Amino acid sequence: MKKIGIIGGGAMGSGIAQVFAQTGNTVVLYDTNQEALDRSKQNLAKTFEKLVAKEKYTAEKAQEIQNSIEYVGSLEAFADIDLMIEAIIENLEIKKSVFKQVEEIVSETCILASNTSSLSIASIASACSKPERVIGIHFFNPAPLMALVEVIPAVQTRDGLAEEIRTLIQSVGKLPVITKDTPGFIVNRVARPFYGEAIRILEEGMANVETIDFAMTSLGGFRMGPFELMDFIGHDVNYRVTESVFESFFYDPKFKPSFSQKRLFEAGFYGRKSGRGFYNYAEGAERKSPSQNQVLLEKIYKRILVMLINEAADALFLNIANREDLDTAMTKGVNYPKGLLKWADEYGIENVKNDLDELYHYYHEDRYRLSPIIRNMIKENKTFY
Ligand code: NAI
Repeated sequence: MKKIGIIGGGAMGSGIAQVFAQTGNTVVLYDTNQEALDRSKQNLAKTFEKLVAKEKYTAEKAQEIQNSIEYVGSLEAFADIDLMIEAIIENLEIKKSVFKQVEEIVSETCILASNTSSLSIASIASACSKPERVIGIHFFNPAPLMALVEVIPAVQTRDGLAEEIRTLIQSVGKLPVITKDTPGFIVNRVARPFYGEAIRILEEGMANVETIDFAMTSLGGFRMGPFELMDFIGHDVNYRVTESVFESFFYDPKFKPSFSQKRLFEAGFYGRKSGRGFYNYAEGAERKSPSQNQVLLEKIYKRILVMLINEAADALFLNIANREDLDTAMTKGVNYPKGLLKWADEYGIENVKNDLDELYHYYHEDRYRLSPIIRNMIKENKTFY
């Protein structure tokens, strides 16, 4: 049993608290906002009411779990924690000042982690006097339901800590993957073409959103098409991630955001939550029927698929993560029907190369450049698995 200190009682902090509490750990949850703490406690009570009704827990066990979370408005309660996980607002300066503050309270051996989606762990660790104990532990939303957790050692992180965290994350029933401290880690990097290439196809007028979504769900087996998914995530979130990944990669054209999405973002058409995004969610709003042209559908599906495969292959080429972790990340973090490297083998490495080279020769744009790993594999007659 460990004592976990969580900072930030919003969507992520509350979910992470639940994950640790229901696997036998004690949790102290700190937030500067008392209302956030009250809301977090009430939401957890509602969640457990449902779990008891579904007979997942007895009423006694549910109460015991809830009692193992202490909601605090002061950091003093962090003095004897084993691990701190920070899940506050995504702002580097605020995170740094919180890490500095926490380091003065916790024990010498306490591990300090951030749940950041987009900031570098190295930059957060630089605020600490013992940066070797700082690491990224990135949960997915909603944390109690999503199995994947990205573990991100920074350049300062001591050897062995990532493995210790991997074991700890497994002990709470999650699937950890270890990734380098680079923008978007695994999931938010490798998934970019799912959105970006779909939008590019739309902008070129090759097909409408209904048809592109239909190609990806019917031929690709994705649970949601790219436009449905972007509308679901919200363009405020999805556009900002795209923009931040692009900037963080020193403006690599591969990750260039689109004007179509930027305009939706500027207009406040965030998607489902605001009633309008790529689709209109007003009552009675009609959707067009997707095209039934098989040649067109295949073309769309293959173009987005090879772009995704290329990104996963490039992440492997650059040692961002190993083969298995790259595939686990996409199937468990964003529910892809298959790991992209496994998919590459099935699709044929030679086909991936030919499709991408064709796009590259047609557009002469850097975004379609083939990862060198694929060319090397073809020379050596290799597959990913
Ligand atoms: P949120 O806005 O729901 O919650 C943030 C909470 O932190 C609020 O309750 C706020 O009162 C509190 N807070 C802000 N500043 C604080 C401070 N200085 N000290 C203590 N508490 C403070 O945010 P959310 O969505 O839970 O995100 C938190 C972190 O998790 C961010 O770094 C975000 O990038 C990351 N993340 C978010 C995901 C998502 O889908 N929402 C997924 C994975 C990571």
